[in-house]
Amino acid sequence: MRMKNKNTKLAFKKAIRPVKKEKTHEEKNTTEKGKKTYSTLRGMHDILPREERFWKKTYHIVDGLAENFQFNRIETPILEEASLFVRSIGRGTDVVDKEMYVFEDRDGTKVCLRPEGTAGVVRAFIGNGMWNLPQPIKVWYWGPMFRHDRPQAGRYREFRQVGFETFGSHEPVIDAELILVAYNFFKDLGLPTIIHINSIGTPEERQKYKTELVNYYRTKRAYICEDCKQRISRNPLRLLDCKETQCQEVKEGAPQIVDWLNPESKNHFIKVLEYLDELNVPYKLDPTLVRGLDYYTHTVFEIYPDIGEEEGAQSALGGGGRYDLLVSEMGGRPTPACGMAIGLERSIAALREYLEKNKIEFPKDRPNIFLAQLGEEARRVSLKIINQLRTSGVKIGFNLCKGSLKNQMELADAAKVQYVIIVGQKEVQDGTVIIRDMESGVQEIVDQRKLENMLKRKLGKVD
Ligand code: HAM
Repeated sequence: MRMKNKNTKLAFKKAIRPVKKEKTHEEKNTTEKGKKTYSTLRGMHDILPREERFWKKTYHIVDGLAENFQFNRIETPILEEASLFVRSIGRGTDVVDKEMYVFEDRDGTKVCLRPEGTAGVVRAFIGNGMWNLPQPIKVWYWGPMFRHDRPQAGRYREFRQVGFETFGSHEPVIDAELILVAYNFFKDLGLPTIIHINSIGTPEERQKYKTELVNYYRTKRAYICEDCKQRISRNPLRLLDCKETQCQEVKEGAPQIVDWLNPESKNHFIKVLEYLDELNVPYKLDPTLVRGLDYYTHTVFEIYPDIGEEEGAQSALGGGGRYDLLVSEMGGRPTPACGMAIGLERSIAALREYLEKNKIEFPKDRPNIFLAQLGEEARRVSLKIINQLRTSGVKIGFNLCKGSLKNQMELADAAKVQYVIIVGQKEVQDGTVIIRDMESGVQEIVDQRKLENMLKRKLGKVD
């Protein structure tokens, strides 16, 4: 076989390179002197306080979107029966075959750390008789998911998703609404994105298409990875979402599912696209997009950063689609459904990269004022003042562990506050504080009882 391009050559070199034995977690966490240390497990990570402003903003946007588009919060357990995911996501998918954290509970039940949110929500929809409620039912969730994937940039073993699911409507407007929520999420975050979209029709339509796909891949057996060779007979649709470089090339010549859709399915898809046109949501038709989970029917979509880079190199920030048959397959009444989920680590990483490249500053969560104190008595009064101002809407910066005024003024400077409240021995005795305007250097003495109103006025927080 001739290797067509650089990527194929690289993949080949990688494949023949001798495999280095990786250290176990235990080995990595033992010093040369045999002392035990601790670190996160492979693929797991801490979210540190310095990243909080990104997470806070993300949550704030999601909360607002859920309210605007009338989704109610649902929380399902992180631990579920393993077969829930096997049945919904399907055998032959990477998630079920390779990535689930499955173990036996103490009573022998096979349980699993959820790899995604949809299956649990479907279980909750059925188990709580939600079909009796006025339809459509629209819910959202936010939480950790677990996939024992090979960790690399943007791919973790524990990651967080926000997801939106809608039950009870066949209408294409529902598909468009979910895509709009996903698109708005990134727009509000400040990251340009584009939607990749396709329709995979009904199982009957797919059956005919699969036969054609299998015929095509049989002629390309020599050029695809070992996993894909298995997929030809096990789960042919999964051939189209293989991430291996050599398989990407083969995929380009594969037959396209849209050619096997009947008029009704085509019509549904066209309507979704018309809504997106009307809303000016940028999208790209992606005829080989099938998604890595088995439960989808009709519309499928993924969201990618639209930052003018080579698309093949990027991972999806989110994805979803219709799953009209899943509720009945899981034992519920036939109920059409549609949903999507966004990977939060990946989205925040993509946003940070975009901001850095374009030298855009992400707003810092800064205090409005700083409180500095001098002496033990002043420290006691300061804590009381901080507590009293807690509900005033004034954000106070402080460090009550510091004793020196100079140190505290440096902190106030670094926080770029407009005013500093100073409490010293004399102010404690007089029941006052000093308010210093950091720009002009002007100081005034204010009665502690009038402090809240005075600050609100100064900071424009009074109507
Ligand atoms: P998914 O495409 O498997 O869909 O995951 C959605 C998003 O989760 C991905 O686009 C990605 O951003 C993030 N994600 C997935 N795996 C990882 C990982 N190992 N590390 C970091 N981020 C990851 C679902 O999960 C479906 N439940 C979406 C859905 C909802 N479909 C219908 N309703």
